[in-house]
Amino acid sequence: RAGEMKDGGAEGPTKRTHPAPSLPTDASLYVGSFPFYRRPSELGHFSLDAERRYHGDSRALRYFAPPPIHTSAPDFDLREGYPERYRPRNEEIREGLDHLLRWLLEHRGQLEGGPGWLAGAVVTWRGHLTKLLTTPYERQEGWQLAASRFLGTLYLSEVETPAARAQRLARPPFLRELMYMGYKFEQYMCADTPGGSPDPSGEVNTNVEFCSVLQSQLGTHHLLFSGEMDCTDPKAPSTQPPACYVELKTSKEMHSPGQWRSFYRHKLLKWWAQSFLPGVPRVVAGFRDPAGAVRSLKTFPTMKMFELIRNDREGWNPSVCMNFCAAFLSFVQNTVTQDDPRLVYLFSWEPSGPVTVSVHYDAPYAFLPTWYVDAVTQ
Ligand code: A3P
Ligand code: MG
Ligand code: MG
Repeated sequence: RAGEMKDGGAEGPTKRTHPAPSLPTDASLYVGSFPFYRRPSELGHFSLDAERRYHGDSRALRYFAPPPIHTSAPDFDLREGYPERYRPRNEEIREGLDHLLRWLLEHRGQLEGGPGWLAGAVVTWRGHLTKLLTTPYERQEGWQLAASRFLGTLYLSEVETPAARAQRLARPPFLRELMYMGYKFEQYMCADTPGGSPDPSGEVNTNVEFCSVLQSQLGTHHLLFSGEMDCTDPKAPSTQPPACYVELKTSKEMHSPGQWRSFYRHKLLKWWAQSFLPGVPRVVAGFRDPAGAVRSLKTFPTMKMFELIRNDREGWNPSVCMNFCAAFLSFVQNTVTQDDPRLVYLFSWEPSGPVTVSVHYDAPYAFLPTWYVDAVTQ
């Protein structure tokens, strides 16, 4: 059964012509062998500066600079500087795929396999793919993905659900501070130059991002996606991207086996999905106490995360995540039949239900900007 779902967009529930097609997300349907996933390779990168302006270079890339003695307790106060030295990105500005499209516009002539490759590919953000990977296990937050086909290429861009928007606008102060703390940890762990030292005295500006652009393949689906990279390790065994990148995370300090189990079941799944997709080999976590001080650091190699949950009957399985993602991409490929940048197929999902589709024209869902459409159409 799982074999059918893996690449079986033409089989199973997606083939029905009426009622409207939908895709089930139950984990049990996607058990099976791990699908083909090509080792991700980096095609390029770009940076966003403190004013959120695009630059086709690596100026925003930071360098992994952990405290010298990994075994002793670090001395990071994650609440320091809040709120005076916090400049959060304006989340009301919907950027869609714009920054990635700008990179693509400037590099589409240099893609391996030529423009023909792009015509058969899926273009999206890594974060959107992460949400797809974790869908069979997600019980809290739904999602909406807008899809348009243009000159063959399938573009996928997330739409904030009404529930997510309401939550964001009502975000309580403690959650705002918790968000700051995640970024503050990055500041304690990164330097601006290779071999430099972190400088936690500056402001935390979440407009700044370094993004890697990667190419991979899942089953028959060619992928071009971009994701933010927290830092590169100048001392990594391989200094070649994406193997040089390190993902930084914070989490609550754990004291009991039950707390670890819950961490493996829920948070580690998200960490794995986020880093596995772009081939980032390790996640370095800072565990904070209730006062917001990082008490210990721990490295989780991405390829060893599954071992921590493998024997848990209530755990997650990477094959399920990847098989579901492949089935979703087949479902999208078979659904988005019309090639029109103003036409949007909106894929919606809420926990415990299937993925459903609705079709829309122009505002508010169309997301391919005219500057991109016009430039590529020439
Ligand atoms: P944590 O490392 O503590 O999660 P990322 O780890 O993906 O590089 O993100 C950096 C920080 O951004 C996170 O730190 C968290 O503070 C914030 N963040 C990322 N995704 C978030 C989300 N969906 N909701 C709230 N905060 C988020
Ligand atoms: Mg990040
Ligand atoms: Mg991070």
